[in-house]
Amino acid sequence: MRAPASVGMRLEEIDTPALLVDLESFEKNLKTLGDSLRGHDVRVRAHAKTHKCPEIARRQVAAGAIGVCCQKVSEAEAMVEGGIEDVLVSNEVVGVPKLGRLGALSTRARLGVCVDNRDNLRQLEASGAKLDVYVELDIGMRRCGVAPGEPALALAREIARSRTLRFAGLQAYHGRAQHLRSMAERRAAIQAACDQVVLTKALLEKAKIPCPIVTGAGSGSFMFEVETGAWNEIQPGSYVFMDADYARNEWAAPLPRFEHSLFVLATVMSRPAPDRAIVDAGLKASSVDSGMPGVWEKPGLVYAAASDEHGRVDIAPGVAAPALGEKLLLVPGHCDPTVNLYDWYVCVRQGVVEALWPITARGASL
Ligand SMILES: Cc1ncc(COP(=O)(O)O)c(C=O)c1O
Repeated sequence: MRAPASVGMRLEEIDTPALLVDLESFEKNLKTLGDSLRGHDVRVRAHAKTHKCPEIARRQVAAGAIGVCCQKVSEAEAMVEGGIEDVLVSNEVVGVPKLGRLGALSTRARLGVCVDNRDNLRQLEASGAKLDVYVELDIGMRRCGVAPGEPALALAREIARSRTLRFAGLQAYHGRAQHLRSMAERRAAIQAACDQVVLTKALLEKAKIPCPIVTGAGSGSFMFEVETGAWNEIQPGSYVFMDADYARNEWAAPLPRFEHSLFVLATVMSRPAPDRAIVDAGLKASSVDSGMPGVWEKPGLVYAAASDEHGRVDIAPGVAAPALGEKLLLVPGHCDPTVNLYDWYVCVRQGVVEALWPITARGASL
């Protein structure tokens, strides 16, 4: 796919819509995560579902991550292809084609997977793959996962008996907690989840089944998990970019505030009325599932509505209207599905294109 820019171009020269990474903020975010974990006995397994890009995964590993998580086998394939040696598919993998690919991948890298079902576990074992297997707990998200306590113990017992699979621990991820707006609500949700994790760990210990890792946590809560001491691996993804929805959270110690580093660059393509500008970035350029994109550093301009290829920007009275052809930076409402709309990151430092990184796992949903 043709890239919208080349190295050395200035921001104004980039074709649009384009997905931009501000390298200074991106690098700061990598450092901020490391700094906030100093002194804590916890490892980072950054979530690659956010960026889908081995170039970024390699930088996360260089910044101290043990490896990455993926949600899909095809994402994991892209990461292993890109040189990542330790990947957890933080999800259930069901069906013969996917299990076959997971098995093949496990001969090329250290690979983990989650289970929440005995039949699925038997299929995994029948595939003959050598895998780290995590029992996924439902700690309040009401997505995948077995109930904490005895049901989790029963699955762990079966894994521990397997000849090919290794019981690697528990996955306890609370997605719904990430966007609870107040610090107090998020802390309370993670504390309740922690009680479930501790209960399950105690049962495993009693049954003499070692539980090396408890993995989970996202960008909106990870310090709460870390401070409980019950998790020893975290899976933040959005922290590298941040998005407009995360910006609506309350941020205070112990959680660090990350910077926006991901932008959609758009061009004003029509000025049909004094109170309205139309940009060339609509639904196919920025996801709107978590709200409209924000217009960066332009008070009085509000991205108000998106259709397939158009975005309507409302102009408040008395505010200088953007000219036809002017470029605007938009902060996507939700980073992950926005990234999945692009083939390239245009990486910019101080307004000049420094690199182009391919989003090799774009569309990798198998
Ligand atoms: C299992 C799992 N872990 C980690 C994450 C990362 O969360 P965030 O992007 O909010 O940091 C997600 C995101 O959906 C997830 O599903």
